[in-house]
Amino acid sequence: MRISIFGLGYVGAVTTACLAARGHQVIGVDVILSKVESIIQGRSPIVEPGLDELIAELVQTGRLAATTDFDRAVAVSDLALICVGTPSSDKGGLETHYVERVATQIGAALRNRSTPFLIVLRSTVLPGTTRSRIGPILEQETGRALGEGYDLLFHPEFLREGSSLYDFSHPAAIVVGEARPGAAKPLLDLYEGIEAPRFVTSLEAAEMIKYANNAFHAIKITFANEIGQLCQSVGVDSRELMHMFCTDTQLNVSSAYLRPGFAFGGSCLPKDLRALMYYARHHDLGLPLLESVLPSNHEQIERVFQRIVQYHPAKIGLIGLAFKPHTDDLRESPLVMLAERLLGKGYSLTIYDAHVQAARLVGKNRAYIEQHMPHLSRLLAPALSDLGDSDLLVLGHPLPDPTWLEHWLASGKRAIDLTGGQPMPITSGYDGLYW
Ligand SMILES: NC(=O)c1ccc[n+]([C@@H]2O[C@H](COP(=O)([O-])OP(=O)(O)OC[C@H]3O[C@@H](n4cnc5c(N)ncnc54)[C@H](O)[C@@H]3O)[C@@H](O)[C@H]2O)c1
Repeated sequence: MRISIFGLGYVGAVTTACLAARGHQVIGVDVILSKVESIIQGRSPIVEPGLDELIAELVQTGRLAATTDFDRAVAVSDLALICVGTPSSDKGGLETHYVERVATQIGAALRNRSTPFLIVLRSTVLPGTTRSRIGPILEQETGRALGEGYDLLFHPEFLREGSSLYDFSHPAAIVVGEARPGAAKPLLDLYEGIEAPRFVTSLEAAEMIKYANNAFHAIKITFANEIGQLCQSVGVDSRELMHMFCTDTQLNVSSAYLRPGFAFGGSCLPKDLRALMYYARHHDLGLPLLESVLPSNHEQIERVFQRIVQYHPAKIGLIGLAFKPHTDDLRESPLVMLAERLLGKGYSLTIYDAHVQAARLVGKNRAYIEQHMPHLSRLLAPALSDLGDSDLLVLGHPLPDPTWLEHWLASGKRAIDLTGGQPMPITSGYDGLYW
Protein backbone atom coordinates (compact mmCIF):
# COMPACT_ATOMS: atom_id res chain seq x y z
CA MET A 1 0.00 0.00 0.00
CA ARG A 2 0.98 3.64 -0.36
CA ILE A 3 0.95 5.14 3.13
CA SER A 4 1.59 8.62 4.54
CA ILE A 5 2.42 9.07 8.22
CA PHE A 6 1.85 12.45 9.88
CA GLY A 7 4.08 13.10 12.88
CA LEU A 8 7.58 11.60 13.08
CA GLY A 9 7.87 11.33 16.86
CA TYR A 10 8.13 8.09 18.86
CA VAL A 11 5.02 6.53 17.37
CA GLY A 12 5.25 7.92 13.84
CA ALA A 13 8.96 7.17 13.26
CA VAL A 14 8.59 3.55 14.39
CA THR A 15 5.38 3.01 12.40
CA THR A 16 6.95 4.58 9.31
CA ALA A 17 9.93 2.20 9.41
CA CYS A 18 7.95 -0.92 10.40
CA LEU A 19 5.36 -0.50 7.62
CA ALA A 20 8.09 0.15 5.03
CA ALA A 21 9.88 -2.96 6.31
CA ARG A 22 6.68 -4.94 5.59
CA GLY A 23 6.95 -3.91 1.93
CA HIS A 24 4.72 -0.85 1.81
CA GLN A 25 5.64 2.46 0.16
CA VAL A 26 5.77 4.93 3.05
CA ILE A 27 6.23 8.69 3.29
CA GLY A 28 6.67 10.40 6.67
CA VAL A 29 5.53 13.99 7.27
CA ASP A 30 6.47 16.40 10.04
CA VAL A 31 6.45 20.15 10.59
CA ILE A 32 9.96 19.93 12.07
CA LEU A 33 12.39 20.04 9.16
CA SER A 34 15.24 18.40 11.10
CA LYS A 35 13.11 15.24 11.68
CA VAL A 36 12.28 15.01 7.98
CA GLU A 37 15.93 15.57 7.00
CA SER A 38 17.03 12.95 9.47
CA ILE A 39 14.89 10.31 7.73
CA ILE A 40 15.98 11.44 4.26
CA GLN A 41 19.59 11.01 5.40
CA GLY A 42 18.80 7.51 6.68
CA ARG A 43 18.85 8.29 10.41
CA SER A 44 16.18 7.88 13.05
CA PRO A 45 14.67 11.13 14.37
CA ILE A 46 14.23 9.49 17.80
CA VAL A 47 16.25 7.17 20.04
CA GLU A 48 14.86 3.65 19.73
CA PRO A 49 16.92 0.43 19.67
CA GLY A 50 17.37 -0.87 16.11
CA LEU A 51 15.55 2.01 14.41
CA ASP A 52 18.61 3.81 12.99
CA GLU A 53 19.77 0.70 11.13
CA LEU A 54 16.27 -0.10 9.87
CA ILE A 55 15.65 3.42 8.54
CA ALA A 56 19.09 3.54 6.84
CA GLU A 57 18.34 0.27 5.03
CA LEU A 58 14.79 1.24 4.01
CA VAL A 59 15.71 4.69 2.70
CA GLN A 60 18.27 2.98 0.45
CA THR A 61 15.64 0.63 -0.98
CA GLY A 62 13.49 3.66 -1.87
CA ARG A 63 10.48 2.39 0.12
CA LEU A 64 10.83 5.09 2.79
CA ALA A 65 10.78 8.84 2.19
CA ALA A 66 9.94 11.97 4.18
CA THR A 67 8.65 15.47 3.47
CA THR A 68 7.23 18.62 5.03
CA ASP A 69 4.82 18.95 2.10
CA PHE A 70 1.34 17.75 3.22
CA ASP A 71 -0.28 17.94 -0.21
CA ARG A 72 2.45 15.85 -1.77
CA ALA A 73 2.23 13.24 0.99
CA VAL A 74 -1.54 12.88 0.49
CA ALA A 75 -1.14 12.81 -3.30
CA VAL A 76 1.31 9.88 -3.22
CA SER A 77 -0.62 7.78 -0.68
CA ASP A 78 -3.98 6.03 -0.24
CA LEU A 79 -3.95 5.78 3.54
CA ALA A 80 -2.82 8.35 6.12
CA LEU A 81 -1.89 7.55 9.71
CA ILE A 82 -2.05 10.53 12.06
CA CYS A 83 0.55 10.15 14.84
CA VAL A 84 1.04 13.73 16.03
CA GLY A 85 1.24 14.57 19.72
CA THR A 86 -1.79 15.11 21.99
CA PRO A 87 -0.18 16.65 25.10
CA SER A 88 -1.94 17.49 28.37
CA SER A 89 -3.79 20.78 28.42
CA ASP A 90 -3.38 23.29 31.27
CA LYS A 91 -6.45 21.90 33.04
CA GLY A 92 -5.38 18.26 32.63
CA GLY A 93 -7.49 17.55 29.54
CA LEU A 94 -6.02 16.84 26.15
CA GLU A 95 -4.74 19.30 23.54
CA THR A 96 -6.12 18.17 20.20
CA HIS A 97 -5.07 21.14 18.11
CA TYR A 98 -2.16 19.28 16.39
CA VAL A 99 -4.53 16.47 15.41
CA GLU A 100 -7.13 18.97 14.24
CA ARG A 101 -4.56 20.87 12.20
CA VAL A 102 -3.42 17.69 10.43
CA ALA A 103 -7.06 16.70 9.76
CA THR A 104 -7.64 20.15 8.25
CA GLN A 105 -4.60 19.81 6.00
CA ILE A 106 -5.44 16.27 4.90
CA GLY A 107 -9.07 17.25 4.27
CA ALA A 108 -8.02 20.21 2.13
CA ALA A 109 -5.61 18.02 0.16
CA LEU A 110 -8.46 15.55 -0.53
CA ARG A 111 -10.89 18.15 -1.89
CA ASN A 112 -10.27 17.40 -5.56
CA ARG A 113 -9.23 13.78 -5.21
CA SER A 114 -11.28 11.14 -7.03
CA THR A 115 -9.58 7.94 -5.78
CA PRO A 116 -10.48 6.48 -2.32
CA PHE A 117 -8.54 7.55 0.73
CA LEU A 118 -8.48 6.25 4.31
CA ILE A 119 -7.63 8.45 7.31
CA VAL A 120 -6.53 6.61 10.44
CA LEU A 121 -6.11 8.45 13.74
CA ARG A 122 -3.46 6.81 15.95
CA SER A 123 -2.81 9.63 18.41
CA THR A 124 -4.44 9.00 21.77
CA VAL A 125 -7.63 11.06 22.07
CA LEU A 126 -10.48 11.08 24.58
CA PRO A 127 -13.56 9.04 23.57
CA GLY A 128 -15.81 10.98 21.23
CA THR A 129 -13.03 13.12 19.72
CA THR A 130 -12.70 11.26 16.42
CA ARG A 131 -16.42 11.37 15.66
CA SER A 132 -17.24 14.83 17.00
CA ARG A 133 -14.06 16.77 16.18
CA ILE A 134 -12.10 15.06 13.40
CA GLY A 135 -15.06 13.83 11.31
CA PRO A 136 -16.65 17.30 10.98
CA ILE A 137 -13.28 18.90 10.08
CA LEU A 138 -12.80 16.37 7.29
CA GLU A 139 -16.35 16.88 6.02
CA GLN A 140 -15.91 20.61 5.96
CA GLU A 141 -12.50 20.57 4.27
CA THR A 142 -13.30 17.91 1.67
CA GLY A 143 -16.77 19.30 1.00
CA ARG A 144 -18.07 15.71 1.18
CA ALA A 145 -19.68 13.47 3.78
CA LEU A 146 -17.74 10.61 5.36
CA GLY A 147 -17.92 7.59 3.11
CA GLU A 148 -17.99 9.70 -0.07
CA GLY A 149 -14.53 8.83 -1.34
CA TYR A 150 -12.85 8.74 2.03
CA ASP A 151 -13.24 7.08 5.42
CA LEU A 152 -12.15 7.62 8.98
CA LEU A 153 -10.87 5.11 11.56
CA PHE A 154 -9.45 5.25 15.05
CA HIS A 155 -6.67 2.74 15.66
CA PRO A 156 -5.09 2.92 19.14
CA GLU A 157 -1.37 2.50 19.49
CA PHE A 158 -0.11 0.09 22.18
CA LEU A 159 3.64 0.02 21.53
CA ARG A 160 6.16 0.73 24.30
CA GLU A 161 9.17 2.96 23.83
CA GLY A 162 12.36 0.91 24.08
CA SER A 163 10.82 -2.26 22.61
CA SER A 164 8.62 -0.74 19.95
CA LEU A 165 10.09 -2.55 16.92
CA TYR A 166 9.33 -5.88 18.61
CA ASP A 167 5.92 -4.64 19.79
CA PHE A 168 4.96 -3.61 16.26
CA SER A 169 5.16 -7.18 14.98
CA HIS A 170 3.93 -8.76 18.27
CA PRO A 171 1.00 -6.59 19.32
CA ALA A 172 -1.15 -7.77 22.23
CA ALA A 173 -4.21 -6.87 20.16
CA ILE A 174 -5.14 -5.02 16.97
CA VAL A 175 -8.10 -2.74 17.64
CA VAL A 176 -9.83 -0.65 14.97
CA GLY A 177 -12.77 1.67 15.48
CA GLU A 178 -14.88 2.40 12.40
CA ALA A 179 -17.08 5.38 11.59
CA ARG A 180 -18.83 3.21 8.97
CA PRO A 181 -19.11 -0.60 8.82
CA GLY A 182 -16.52 -2.22 6.57
CA ALA A 183 -14.14 0.75 6.52
CA ALA A 184 -11.46 -1.08 8.54
CA LYS A 185 -10.64 -3.71 5.90
CA PRO A 186 -7.69 -1.97 4.14
CA LEU A 187 -6.11 -1.17 7.50
CA LEU A 188 -6.45 -4.76 8.74
CA ASP A 189 -4.82 -5.94 5.51
CA LEU A 190 -1.65 -4.11 6.61
CA TYR A 191 -1.36 -6.61 9.48
CA GLU A 192 -1.63 -9.71 7.32
CA GLY A 193 0.59 -12.43 8.79
CA ILE A 194 0.83 -10.78 12.21
CA GLU A 195 -0.69 -12.99 14.89
CA ALA A 196 -2.84 -11.07 17.35
CA PRO A 197 -6.51 -10.93 18.27
CA ARG A 198 -8.34 -8.45 16.01
CA PHE A 199 -11.23 -6.31 17.19
CA VAL A 200 -13.30 -4.11 14.91
CA THR A 201 -15.49 -1.88 17.02
CA SER A 202 -16.96 1.61 17.34
CA LEU A 203 -14.74 4.71 17.23
CA GLU A 204 -15.52 5.37 20.90
CA ALA A 205 -14.69 1.85 22.12
CA ALA A 206 -11.37 1.97 20.22
CA GLU A 207 -10.59 5.33 21.83
CA MET A 208 -11.63 4.05 25.27
CA ILE A 209 -9.59 0.83 25.24
CA LYS A 210 -6.37 2.85 25.19
CA TYR A 211 -7.42 4.66 28.38
CA ALA A 212 -8.63 1.44 30.04
CA ASN A 213 -5.26 -0.18 29.26
CA ASN A 214 -3.18 2.72 30.51
CA ALA A 215 -5.30 3.23 33.63
CA PHE A 216 -4.91 -0.47 34.44
CA HIS A 217 -1.16 -0.42 33.86
CA ALA A 218 -0.84 2.63 36.10
CA ILE A 219 -2.98 0.95 38.78
CA LYS A 220 -0.84 -2.20 38.60
CA ILE A 221 2.36 -0.25 39.21
CA THR A 222 0.81 1.76 42.04
CA PHE A 223 -0.67 -1.38 43.60
CA ALA A 224 2.73 -3.11 43.53
CA ASN A 225 4.33 -0.05 45.14
CA GLU A 226 1.72 0.19 47.89
CA ILE A 227 1.96 -3.54 48.63
CA GLY A 228 5.75 -3.01 48.62
CA GLN A 229 5.34 -0.32 51.29
CA LEU A 230 3.25 -2.67 53.43
CA CYS A 231 5.75 -5.50 52.93
CA GLN A 232 8.68 -3.35 53.97
CA SER A 233 6.94 -2.23 57.14
CA VAL A 234 6.50 -5.86 58.24
CA GLY A 235 9.98 -6.95 57.10
CA VAL A 236 8.80 -8.96 54.10
CA ASP A 237 10.77 -8.92 50.83
CA SER A 238 8.26 -7.42 48.37
CA ARG A 239 10.06 -8.98 45.37
CA GLU A 240 9.48 -12.48 46.71
CA LEU A 241 5.94 -11.61 47.73
CA MET A 242 4.97 -10.20 44.33
CA HIS A 243 6.54 -13.20 42.66
CA MET A 244 4.18 -15.43 44.68
CA PHE A 245 1.32 -13.05 43.91
CA CYS A 246 1.90 -13.18 40.14
CA THR A 247 2.13 -16.97 40.16
CA ASP A 248 -1.62 -17.05 40.86
CA THR A 249 -2.96 -16.77 37.34
CA GLN A 250 -6.40 -18.02 38.41
CA LEU A 251 -7.53 -15.11 40.53
CA ASN A 252 -4.72 -12.50 40.59
CA VAL A 253 -3.21 -12.07 37.14
CA SER A 254 -6.25 -13.13 35.15
CA SER A 255 -9.59 -11.94 33.85
CA ALA A 256 -11.22 -12.84 37.20
CA TYR A 257 -13.07 -9.92 38.83
CA LEU A 258 -12.73 -7.75 35.72
CA ARG A 259 -16.38 -7.48 34.70
CA PRO A 260 -18.22 -4.26 35.49
CA GLY A 261 -21.39 -5.13 37.38
CA PHE A 262 -21.85 -4.32 41.05
CA ALA A 263 -20.02 -3.81 44.33
CA PHE A 264 -18.03 -6.50 46.14
CA GLY A 265 -18.85 -7.67 49.63
CA GLY A 266 -18.73 -10.80 51.75
CA SER A 267 -16.92 -11.79 54.87
CA CYS A 268 -13.37 -11.27 53.56
CA LEU A 269 -12.70 -8.44 51.10
CA PRO A 270 -14.23 -5.53 53.10
CA LYS A 271 -12.94 -6.84 56.44
CA ASP A 272 -9.40 -7.43 55.19
CA LEU A 273 -9.16 -4.08 53.43
CA ARG A 274 -10.40 -2.34 56.57
CA ALA A 275 -7.77 -4.13 58.67
CA LEU A 276 -5.04 -3.25 56.18
CA MET A 277 -6.06 0.42 56.22
CA TYR A 278 -6.15 0.37 60.03
CA TYR A 279 -2.63 -1.05 60.05
CA ALA A 280 -1.42 1.50 57.47
CA ARG A 281 -2.81 4.43 59.46
CA HIS A 282 -1.15 3.22 62.66
CA HIS A 283 2.18 2.87 60.88
CA ASP A 284 1.95 6.19 59.04
CA LEU A 285 1.89 4.52 55.63
CA GLY A 286 0.24 6.63 52.95
CA LEU A 287 -1.61 4.21 50.64
CA PRO A 288 -3.98 6.40 48.62
CA LEU A 289 -4.86 3.73 46.05
CA LEU A 290 -5.84 1.06 48.58
CA GLU A 291 -7.56 3.66 50.77
CA SER A 292 -9.82 4.65 47.89
CA VAL A 293 -11.15 1.11 47.32
CA LEU A 294 -13.84 0.81 50.04
CA PRO A 295 -15.26 4.32 49.42
CA SER A 296 -15.37 3.60 45.69
CA ASN A 297 -17.12 0.28 46.36
CA HIS A 298 -19.69 2.00 48.53
CA GLU A 299 -20.36 4.48 45.71
CA GLN A 300 -21.41 1.59 43.48
CA ILE A 301 -24.21 0.65 45.89
CA GLU A 302 -25.41 4.24 46.00
CA ARG A 303 -25.25 4.45 42.19
CA VAL A 304 -27.49 1.37 41.83
CA PHE A 305 -29.91 2.83 44.34
CA GLN A 306 -30.08 6.11 42.38
CA ARG A 307 -30.57 4.17 39.16
CA ILE A 308 -33.46 2.19 40.64
CA VAL A 309 -35.08 5.40 41.88
CA GLN A 310 -35.09 6.71 38.29
CA TYR A 311 -37.39 3.83 37.23
CA HIS A 312 -40.06 4.98 39.74
CA PRO A 313 -40.91 1.34 40.54
CA ALA A 314 -44.12 0.52 42.39
CA LYS A 315 -42.85 -2.89 43.47
CA ILE A 316 -39.30 -4.21 43.20
CA GLY A 317 -38.27 -7.85 42.86
CA LEU A 318 -34.68 -8.50 43.97
CA ILE A 319 -33.01 -11.70 42.83
CA GLY A 320 -30.15 -12.65 45.14
CA LEU A 321 -29.34 -11.48 48.64
CA ALA A 322 -26.14 -13.33 49.60
CA PHE A 323 -22.89 -11.59 48.71
CA LYS A 324 -22.50 -13.95 45.76
CA PRO A 325 -24.46 -16.81 44.16
CA HIS A 326 -24.42 -20.37 45.54
CA THR A 327 -23.94 -19.37 49.18
CA ASP A 328 -26.18 -18.21 52.02
CA ASP A 329 -23.45 -15.90 53.40
CA LEU A 330 -25.07 -12.52 53.94
CA ARG A 331 -22.21 -10.82 55.77
CA GLU A 332 -21.48 -7.43 54.20
CA SER A 333 -23.45 -8.42 51.14
CA PRO A 334 -23.89 -5.32 48.94
CA LEU A 335 -27.34 -6.68 48.06
CA VAL A 336 -28.34 -6.55 51.74
CA MET A 337 -27.10 -2.94 51.84
CA LEU A 338 -29.05 -2.14 48.68
CA ALA A 339 -32.20 -3.80 50.09
CA GLU A 340 -31.79 -1.82 53.32
CA ARG A 341 -31.43 1.42 51.38
CA LEU A 342 -34.55 0.69 49.31
CA LEU A 343 -36.61 -0.28 52.36
CA GLY A 344 -35.38 2.81 54.19
CA LYS A 345 -36.82 4.94 51.40
CA GLY A 346 -40.14 3.13 51.61
CA TYR A 347 -39.93 0.98 48.44
CA SER A 348 -41.92 -2.23 48.32
CA LEU A 349 -39.51 -5.14 47.98
CA THR A 350 -39.72 -8.90 47.48
CA ILE A 351 -36.52 -10.93 47.52
CA TYR A 352 -35.77 -14.32 46.04
CA ASP A 353 -32.51 -16.13 46.79
CA ALA A 354 -32.48 -19.88 46.21
CA HIS A 355 -29.90 -20.39 48.98
CA VAL A 356 -31.17 -17.99 51.65
CA GLN A 357 -34.08 -19.16 53.77
CA ALA A 358 -34.81 -16.94 56.79
CA ALA A 359 -35.71 -19.91 58.97
CA ARG A 360 -32.44 -21.71 58.19
CA LEU A 361 -30.09 -18.81 58.93
CA VAL A 362 -27.79 -19.50 61.87
CA GLY A 363 -24.77 -18.01 63.62
CA LYS A 364 -23.09 -14.92 62.12
CA ASN A 365 -25.55 -14.85 59.24
CA ARG A 366 -28.55 -14.70 61.56
CA ALA A 367 -26.91 -12.03 63.73
CA TYR A 368 -26.05 -9.96 60.66
CA ILE A 369 -29.53 -10.11 59.20
CA GLU A 370 -31.21 -9.47 62.56
CA GLN A 371 -29.17 -6.31 62.85
CA HIS A 372 -29.70 -5.11 59.27
CA MET A 373 -33.04 -6.55 58.12
CA PRO A 374 -34.93 -7.98 61.11
CA HIS A 375 -38.10 -8.39 59.04
CA LEU A 376 -36.31 -10.43 56.37
CA SER A 377 -38.59 -13.45 56.57
CA ARG A 378 -41.53 -11.29 55.48
CA LEU A 379 -39.61 -10.13 52.36
CA LEU A 380 -38.18 -13.46 51.26
CA ALA A 381 -40.18 -15.25 48.59
CA PRO A 382 -39.92 -19.06 48.39
CA ALA A 383 -40.12 -19.16 44.58
CA LEU A 384 -39.04 -17.00 41.66
CA SER A 385 -42.62 -16.87 40.43
CA ASP A 386 -43.54 -14.95 43.61
CA LEU A 387 -41.79 -11.94 42.13
CA GLY A 388 -44.31 -11.86 39.30
CA ASP A 389 -46.26 -8.86 40.56
CA SER A 390 -43.15 -6.63 40.71
CA ASP A 391 -42.68 -4.09 37.92
CA LEU A 392 -38.88 -3.82 38.24
CA LEU A 393 -36.56 -6.79 38.58
CA VAL A 394 -33.09 -6.24 40.07
CA LEU A 395 -30.79 -9.12 39.17
CA GLY A 396 -28.21 -9.37 41.90
CA HIS A 397 -27.41 -12.98 40.94
CA PRO A 398 -27.66 -14.59 37.50
CA LEU A 399 -30.83 -16.52 36.75
CA PRO A 400 -30.39 -20.25 36.16
CA ASP A 401 -32.87 -20.03 33.28
CA PRO A 402 -32.66 -16.85 31.16
CA THR A 403 -35.95 -17.70 29.41
CA TRP A 404 -37.74 -16.67 32.64
CA LEU A 405 -36.26 -13.20 32.19
CA GLU A 406 -37.21 -13.14 28.51
CA HIS A 407 -40.86 -13.82 29.43
CA TRP A 408 -40.69 -11.18 32.12
CA LEU A 409 -39.39 -8.57 29.66
CA ALA A 410 -41.87 -9.63 27.00
CA SER A 411 -44.67 -8.55 29.35
CA GLY A 412 -43.35 -4.97 29.13
CA LYS A 413 -41.72 -4.92 32.58
CA ARG A 414 -38.18 -3.74 33.26
CA ALA A 415 -35.04 -5.35 34.65
CA ILE A 416 -31.66 -4.06 35.75
CA ASP A 417 -28.83 -6.57 35.71
CA LEU A 418 -26.02 -6.18 38.28
CA THR A 419 -24.35 -9.49 37.50
CA GLY A 420 -21.99 -8.29 34.79
CA GLY A 421 -24.31 -9.38 32.01
CA GLN A 422 -25.93 -12.66 31.10
CA PRO A 423 -25.84 -13.58 27.43
CA MET A 424 -29.21 -12.09 26.54
CA PRO A 425 -30.76 -10.78 23.36
CA ILE A 426 -30.84 -6.98 23.37
CA THR A 427 -34.35 -6.24 24.53
CA SER A 428 -35.82 -2.95 25.54
CA GLY A 429 -36.38 -2.73 29.27
CA TYR A 430 -33.22 -4.72 30.09
CA ASP A 431 -30.33 -2.60 31.36
CA GLY A 432 -27.05 -3.16 33.12
CA LEU A 433 -25.42 -0.77 35.50
CA TYR A 434 -22.73 0.22 33.00
CA TRP A 435 -24.00 -1.00 29.66
N1 LIG B 1 5.18 7.51 22.85
C1 LIG B 1 4.51 6.39 23.07
O1 LIG B 1 5.05 5.39 23.54
C2 LIG B 1 3.06 6.30 22.71
C3 LIG B 1 2.41 5.07 22.76
C4 LIG B 1 1.08 4.98 22.40
C5 LIG B 1 0.39 6.12 22.00
N2 LIG B 1 1.03 7.33 21.97
C6 LIG B 1 0.26 8.49 21.50
O2 LIG B 1 0.67 8.73 20.15
C7 LIG B 1 0.70 10.14 19.88
C8 LIG B 1 2.08 10.56 19.44
O3 LIG B 1 2.98 10.31 20.51
P1 LIG B 1 4.55 10.52 20.32
O4 LIG B 1 5.17 10.08 21.59
O5 LIG B 1 4.99 9.90 19.04
O6 LIG B 1 4.61 12.13 20.19
P2 LIG B 1 5.88 13.02 19.81
O7 LIG B 1 5.70 14.31 20.49
O8 LIG B 1 7.15 12.26 20.00
O9 LIG B 1 5.72 13.23 18.25
C9 LIG B 1 4.72 14.00 17.66
C10 LIG B 1 5.26 14.51 16.34
O10 LIG B 1 4.20 15.17 15.65
C11 LIG B 1 4.76 16.26 14.97
N3 LIG B 1 3.71 17.19 14.58
C12 LIG B 1 3.04 18.08 15.34
N4 LIG B 1 2.16 18.74 14.61
C13 LIG B 1 2.25 18.29 13.35
C14 LIG B 1 1.60 18.57 12.14
N5 LIG B 1 0.65 19.50 12.06
N6 LIG B 1 1.96 17.89 11.06
C15 LIG B 1 2.90 16.94 11.12
N7 LIG B 1 3.56 16.62 12.24
C16 LIG B 1 3.25 17.30 13.33
C17 LIG B 1 5.77 16.82 15.96
O11 LIG B 1 6.69 17.69 15.33
C18 LIG B 1 6.38 15.54 16.49
O12 LIG B 1 7.48 15.15 15.71
C19 LIG B 1 0.22 10.81 21.18
O13 LIG B 1 -1.16 11.01 21.09
C20 LIG B 1 0.55 9.79 22.24
O14 LIG B 1 -0.28 9.94 23.37
C21 LIG B 1 2.35 7.43 22.30
